[in-house]
Amino acid sequence: MRSTRRDFLQGLSFAALAPALGRSWAQERPALPIPPLVDVRPGTPVTLTARVGETEFFPGKTSPTAGYNRDLLGPTLRVRSGDEVTLVVRNELPETTTVHWHGLLIPAAVDGGPHNTIAPGQSWKAVLPVQQPASTCWYHPHPHGRTGLQVYGGLAGMLLVTDREEQALGLPARYGVDDLPLVLQDRVFDREQHLVYPRGPMALMHGVLGSVMLVNGVREPRAAVPAGLVRLRLLNGSNARVYELAFEDQRSFHWIGTDGGLLRAPVPLQRLPLAPGQRAELLVDFSDGHAAVLLNRTSEGAQPLLHFAPAGERQPPHPLPARLASWQSPDPKGATQHRRLTLTMGNDGMGSMPGMHGMPMPHGFDGRPFDMDRIDQRVKLGAVEIWEVSALPGMMMDQAHPFHMHGVHFEVLRRDGRAPGPLDQGRRDTVLVHEPVDLLVHFTRPGPTVPFMYHCHILEHEDGGMMGQFTVT
Ligand code: C2O
Ligand code: CU
Ligand code: CU
Repeated sequence: MRSTRRDFLQGLSFAALAPALGRSWAQERPALPIPPLVDVRPGTPVTLTARVGETEFFPGKTSPTAGYNRDLLGPTLRVRSGDEVTLVVRNELPETTTVHWHGLLIPAAVDGGPHNTIAPGQSWKAVLPVQQPASTCWYHPHPHGRTGLQVYGGLAGMLLVTDREEQALGLPARYGVDDLPLVLQDRVFDREQHLVYPRGPMALMHGVLGSVMLVNGVREPRAAVPAGLVRLRLLNGSNARVYELAFEDQRSFHWIGTDGGLLRAPVPLQRLPLAPGQRAELLVDFSDGHAAVLLNRTSEGAQPLLHFAPAGERQPPHPLPARLASWQSPDPKGATQHRRLTLTMGNDGMGSMPGMHGMPMPHGFDGRPFDMDRIDQRVKLGAVEIWEVSALPGMMMDQAHPFHMHGVHFEVLRRDGRAPGPLDQGRRDTVLVHEPVDLLVHFTRPGPTVPFMYHCHILEHEDGGMMGQFTVT
């Protein structure tokens, strides 16, 4: 793998003048950092300043990074359904950026996609009407061609939507205590333990995959939790890695939420896959007081992500609500359109695709790369549609693609022509496409002029052209 540290530095090292963080590296694991929580209220704009900084991932080794209002990552924003909130994004990066509210159902004009650019030194004001069920969302840059680098550098934060229905359930809700935001990311470091962003054909084909796992920006941290029920809000903020989440002691947990909010009822599981861009909410019972390790289990073995240290008085196992949320699925019979989309891989450096005469082919949909000036799909506001999404099998490998749509929630109707399994349930905005999937999509937000995006959430695929856009009128 050719690592080009200089490219990364050129992009993000501009104002890396902040002094090295004075974190003391004791022998023990670092505590899980909890991003500050900002309650965004109507009438009080909140400013996010995208800027570069420095982060000490390894003792004594600082790397240039970026964050919102800080050196790495951003604050957790909390909004209430029914509110209209104002966010101001200030760009202090040396390059153009945008901020996309991934998971918010809002009009395309304020969605923060590649059309909502903010030049260096400029600000962008987004007034967001929040009207959707409680859910774990996130925000991140979306400038076409630079999303991978900017997210990788550290620009990402969580965005929590809450509502009355959720608050009435009595789920663990003490932020940072028994309700933990967990941003999962993997990174590449060079021999000197500096962060690098690899480029080249391998990165373009597979996306950037790192061997170092970070949770909230720290390697294998330790979370002190109460010896009781704890809610984990997991975000796969990685550029390309699909996680297989499980505990080292095989303990079971309850899966309670997806991208689109709470499931109808808790689902007991022992492992859960999480693709880039996706979120999952879990309830884990630590009332036995035993330490536990959250792992990414892969075919090659298990990588520890986060160590839990339950402490304090043991709370008796907590009865879970039998029902979490009641929501109606649209009737597939009401679908007015069937669209077929195929994710197609380019062949840079990997040999030619049949029929392509050895010409380099970019990533795209149905062989066409993203074009800012081309509208790929036109949808009627309020429509229910079925989108059949599949991936062209590659010559060299079978790549699964996390397919993401802006401005909608969808449900998986069929996978590989059959009824989907239990892991496909719930409302989503991102789904892993390996086998073809049929998605039932409800278009409820307008995008008449500025379009919404759909794309692969492997960020190097997206930047490489695996993206399209649709209007909703
Ligand atoms: Cu999280 Cu269009 O992206
Ligand atoms: Cu999105
Ligand atoms: Cu992809």
